[in-house]
Amino acid sequence: MNALTAQPQKKKLQAALAHASGDKRFKILEVHMKKHQFQHDALIEVLHKAQELFGFLDDDLLLFISYKLKLPPSRVYGVATFYHFFTLKPKGEHTCVVCMGTACYVKGADKVIAAVSEHAKIKAGETTPDNKVSLLTARCIGACGIAPAVVYDGTVTPRATPESAVEQIKKWM
Ligand code: FES
Repeated sequence: MNALTAQPQKKKLQAALAHASGDKRFKILEVHMKKHQFQHDALIEVLHKAQELFGFLDDDLLLFISYKLKLPPSRVYGVATFYHFFTLKPKGEHTCVVCMGTACYVKGADKVIAAVSEHAKIKAGETTPDNKVSLLTARCIGACGIAPAVVYDGTVTPRATPESAVEQIKKWM
């Protein structure tokens, strides 16, 4: 049994309330599910969108999807773990997700990635050998007005620069 199925009620509640946390990405994901009329068949498509937005699929996110699509958490978790192109919670203690959507890209997100990669000696999608930091990318997290946006441990941060990103990584390493 994993954390996802251990406390279904409590977790379901958390997931249902997740977008009330103010993280716009949950709202965007919900709009996407609505576009698919919350159909069960849209699960893989929804998981793709979720990964695009968040960079990876952690338990709360999977539960949010399960709750909204009215699917058992075990089914959502099963599909997410079956396909190799989905990334579940990365190994790193900390996560740095750099948005590589168009707006962020033109404002220099690639330079932010390059700086973090160079400093932490990992590529996007990898975790440092000491498991301290995972570097991930996402595609348009719905914060284009503050591009380039980087999400440090779940907190969306505006107007990242290579210097500010490296500063943050240094604190974690
Ligand atoms: S492109 Fe990065 S937030 Fe939209």
